[in-house]
Amino acid sequence: MTRTLGKDLLGLEPLSTEQIRLILDTAEPFKEVSERQIKKVPALRGMTIVNLFFEASTRTRISFEFAEKRLSADTVNVGSSGSSVQKGETLVDTARNLEAMRINMVVIRHSASGAAHFLADRIESNVINAGDGTHEHPTQGLLDLLTLRDHFRTLEGRRVCIVGDVLHSRVARSNIWGLTKMGVEVAVCGPRSLLPKDIGEFGVRVFKRIDEAIEWAEALNVLRLQLERMQAGYIPSLREYNRVFGVTRERLERADHEVLIMHPGPMNRGVEIDSDVADGEQSVILDQVTNGVAVRMAVLYLLAGGRPDLADAAKGGSER
Ligand code: CP
Repeated sequence: MTRTLGKDLLGLEPLSTEQIRLILDTAEPFKEVSERQIKKVPALRGMTIVNLFFEASTRTRISFEFAEKRLSADTVNVGSSGSSVQKGETLVDTARNLEAMRINMVVIRHSASGAAHFLADRIESNVINAGDGTHEHPTQGLLDLLTLRDHFRTLEGRRVCIVGDVLHSRVARSNIWGLTKMGVEVAVCGPRSLLPKDIGEFGVRVFKRIDEAIEWAEALNVLRLQLERMQAGYIPSLREYNRVFGVTRERLERADHEVLIMHPGPMNRGVEIDSDVADGEQSVILDQVTNGVAVRMAVLYLLAGGRPDLADAAKGGSER
């Protein structure tokens, strides 16, 4: 078995440029599987994967489940509600009991930063981080890279600005690591109260005004204002936020070039992004979601020891 990614995928910070490129390249042949009438290939037949989602999710949870099923893995979904976590069972005890049932991989989303690392150090199964607190969301970062590469063909030298609530955003962190490793120029733009104090150490440009960010950027990745993580006091009001930092059609029309619009979802329409931008011609928000399945198929395949050069062949044996 060849291991090109190591045992786990916990973040984009620990990955090399070559490993990120490998995942993106491996995702390419898997895109086509989702376009087939029968969306199933035998690449992970016989593997058992548990999706532990201890925090709300629509896109990531369903996308992982589709990716696993399309690779013919057997999957089980566990949430905190309805499991023995509600009775106080620890994360490690839950995972060890699952391992006793001979599983191969765990996909975990957790509200605590570091939960995926903590688990990966204590179980033998592969662990994939599906978002841990404010730390990282590596498969979101990868699907964002794939979407940018689809649109621009190359990533090197492109200019991407991440807009909004960077402070609470694991998506921002994975994007900053992934984009910079791939040679993209990265900026952030948002209220000072929603930028990390150490933002200067990330090697990114900082824009105080959204109009300057739009003028500079070729793509904006607009972040959700994470209202559930705010204890209050970060912004005066949602209306004020939209007025000062909202990505609106009027603002985009003032730019002298087209700007690609991305958002990891779920969106607060009319707050960080207006509906006519989210649904407009410059938006690739739903392409991001489509690419999420292919990227997750690639990650699952590589972590299972699949050979990247055989990813295309691994799709064989299915019916079209
Ligand atoms: N982008 C993202 O993580 O969305 P979900 O929270 O719906 O999974």
